[in-house]
Amino acid sequence: MAPHALAHHVVLVGFMGAGKSTFGAQFAAQVGRRLVDIDREIARAGDSIAAIFERDGEAAFREFEAAELRTALATGERLVVALGGGAVETDEVRQLLTSAFVVWLEVDAATAWERVRHSNRPLARDETAFHARWERRQPLYAEVADAIAVDLDGIALAAAGVHVESGSLEQLGWLIPGDGPVELVADVHVAGIHGVEAQLALGDRLVAVHEVPAGEPAKAAAVLDRLWRGLKIGRDGTVVALGGGTTTDLAGFAAATYMRGVAWAPVPTTLVGQVDAAIGGKTAIDVPGGKNLVGAFHWPARVVIDPALLETLPDAERRNGLAEVVKTGLLVGEPLWELSEPQQVRRCAAFKSAVCLADPHDRGIRNQLNLGHTFAHALEAAAGYELPHGEAVALGLLAALQLSGLPDQVALVQKVLQPTKPRVDRDLAWAALGRDKKATGGRPRLVLLEAPGRPLIGVERPDAEVRAALDLLIAG
Ligand SMILES: NC(=O)c1ccc[n+]([C@@H]2O[C@H](COP(=O)([O-])OP(=O)(O)OC[C@H]3O[C@@H](n4cnc5c(N)ncnc54)[C@H](O)[C@@H]3O)[C@@H](O)[C@H]2O)c1
Repeated sequence: MAPHALAHHVVLVGFMGAGKSTFGAQFAAQVGRRLVDIDREIARAGDSIAAIFERDGEAAFREFEAAELRTALATGERLVVALGGGAVETDEVRQLLTSAFVVWLEVDAATAWERVRHSNRPLARDETAFHARWERRQPLYAEVADAIAVDLDGIALAAAGVHVESGSLEQLGWLIPGDGPVELVADVHVAGIHGVEAQLALGDRLVAVHEVPAGEPAKAAAVLDRLWRGLKIGRDGTVVALGGGTTTDLAGFAAATYMRGVAWAPVPTTLVGQVDAAIGGKTAIDVPGGKNLVGAFHWPARVVIDPALLETLPDAERRNGLAEVVKTGLLVGEPLWELSEPQQVRRCAAFKSAVCLADPHDRGIRNQLNLGHTFAHALEAAAGYELPHGEAVALGLLAALQLSGLPDQVALVQKVLQPTKPRVDRDLAWAALGRDKKATGGRPRLVLLEAPGRPLIGVERPDAEVRAALDLLIAG
């Protein structure tokens, strides 16, 4: 079973009325893949589905379905495929699906009936037969499914291999794919709070525990070196990382490089980790030349997000995460910060999952995630990294929104995050902004918003405008 869909076609299965075509089209647009709707392909090739059923019978229709699926799955590009509800009854289809990442879009029989009873679907004419068919198909969907979803976010999370559920730390043993050995890399502070539960959940699979420093000092070459020397697993093993973004960045990079790459699974314990750092496969350590300067793209086999772990998070750390939640809200154009924390986590994790699936190597649309970050990095550098990241991101968002010409959004971010202007050297901040990784020829390429939910990537603005926006963020 594939743990995620990065290198696979995504096939949506489920009963009629589950929303496969609708969600399939939306998900395909999100991840920049082509949608192949098998029922539509069949209808396009000739008669309507109802006509095929009437003239040739269900068995003939099932053969058309299998043939269309075979053609789609042989395509070189990675697709999103919406499969007709009954296709899983065909042996060949179930066999073909073993090569794809299959998401079962679940729907209960009563809801499905309400949705399709007035359509002209040949199998939605008699309610009793409809319910019986629903019953009969459940085990078939379960047999082919790599993951289950009930909505669009659920599809994105499943496809990225991200599991979001309160209490999921207890289920870690079976959530980590495979049955090979596991080594746990844990932030020393977090290990003291949630480590025992993680160890118990991993059970017999756990062969070693490595505690690493709390916070940014974990992302040092010396800590990585100790980890490399200490790891015992072979290629069949998995590194599980328990902690915030610093722990998952370090452990992920260790997993990317140890034995030329072993599987890894972050279990983020901060809001920053759950909505951002643990998702999308970017891993890195810091070197004297700069933060995150040495790293690798290494997609996690599974991300296990347990929002209940945030109950022990200090408020200052929560504020860091809230800045990323607000950033995501601006990018999707919805006030995500008004949701409950578990819902914030799920929505933001789903958004990041989809963006990273669309652009796993950060060559295009993933760049939108840097909204506000060019300014944030400049302020952090000028403050000698004494400024909390969340505070810096909040200020950075203000600058990006101001340059976007969105004063209402500036006021909104000001109200929600209430950042304080730092007293830093203006020239130092300006020089750091020019050195930002995204700068071309010293001129930063910014992420701005055309409107909430409509990001603009790679925008260049005259130096004077950018510097004025930066200056506004600095006290004194
Ligand atoms: N790879 C990526 O895509 C990506 C994205 C964003 C940020 N990052 C990186 O993430 C790092 C920041 O991560 P962070 O903000 O999660 O900070 P962190 O990992 O430093 O954790 C912050 C503090 O919270 C404590 N903590 C963690 N979980 C806790 C819990 N549940 N209860 C109590 N205390 C807890 C830690 O011990 C630590 O002291 C940075 O190094 C940044 O570069 C990476």
